[in-house]
Amino acid sequence: MTRLMGYGLLKPKHKILGADIAGRIEVVGRNIKQFQSGDEVFGNTAECGFGAFAEYVSVPENALVLKPTNISFEEAAAVPQAAVVALQGLRDKGQIQPGQKVLIHGASGGVGTFAAQIAKSFGTEVTAVCSTGKMEMVRSIGADHVIDYTQEDFTRNGQRYDLILAANGYHPISAYQRALNPEGVYVMTGGSMAQMFQSMLLGPLISRTGRQKMGNSAHKPNKKDLIFTKELLEASKVKPVIDRRFPLRDVADAIRYLEAGHAQGKVVITVEHTM
Ligand SMILES: NC(=O)c1ccc[n+]([C@@H]2O[C@H](COP(=O)([O-])OP(=O)(O)OC[C@H]3O[C@@H](n4cnc5c(N)ncnc54)[C@H](OP(=O)(O)O)[C@@H]3O)[C@@H](O)[C@H]2O)c1
Repeated sequence: MTRLMGYGLLKPKHKILGADIAGRIEVVGRNIKQFQSGDEVFGNTAECGFGAFAEYVSVPENALVLKPTNISFEEAAAVPQAAVVALQGLRDKGQIQPGQKVLIHGASGGVGTFAAQIAKSFGTEVTAVCSTGKMEMVRSIGADHVIDYTQEDFTRNGQRYDLILAANGYHPISAYQRALNPEGVYVMTGGSMAQMFQSMLLGPLISRTGRQKMGNSAHKPNKKDLIFTKELLEASKVKPVIDRRFPLRDVADAIRYLEAGHAQGKVVITVEHTM
């Protein structure tokens, strides 16, 4: 699927992978107006060739935003893609409103930990779904209610939600529909292939024939949304959750760890500064 999504059908399109970055600007081009050397920045290189798994990366200025001063480089590197995916899913596709009952499925992962906090920042009542060992962490980032998916199926407990964001995990689309209020919205940002195909193919159909809205949200990296996220970080409304850090030489181990599917928050690659 990743190959179909434009990462290269026969061989990888990009030699150096990795999208999110945080670091200090070494040097700027002649026409660069927004930044100068020494500025501390973070950003997403997905629209400009990737290359984040490296000591140095060259990017256009629009991929970068000044790093919030109240978080570390490691925390900042955990933010761009996952937080913007969560923000766009909740705000743009989900049309989140204060006072709503919002459920985050897969709340303990990279996208889910941001989604739970961003949903709280919009003044909603947040229910987070995760496994037993991650309940305490999810509570600590502000979830009002936590459902342990190993003990309870939220699609069968009689509760209804105004907005469900599926960040990870899997239920058939009919199960998510059952857990929605009559005018509720379901947004899928990640999860299994079956979940993705159902939300892309059946979601528009359900949305056309009833009052519920169901579908997926594809990530569109942009500076405006990264600035929005930066402001949430500066206001301490959102705090990155970092599971593990791997040195750059162990990036393959980091990917293997992530692909096992049980990260608690984000996994970060650290780079030693040798100069
Ligand atoms: N829409 C987009 O444009 C976009 C952009 C980036 C990423 N994504 C996708 O979004 C998805 C999530 O990304 P991520 O970075 O958040 O992944 P992740 O960090 O790897 O997610 C791992 C987390 O998911 C939880 N989880 C796994 N199965 C679950 C289940 N059945 N119910 C509830 N929680 C479950 C795990 O908890 P346990 O260990 O407790 O099970 C773990 O905490 C991926 O599929 C990724 O490809 C989409």
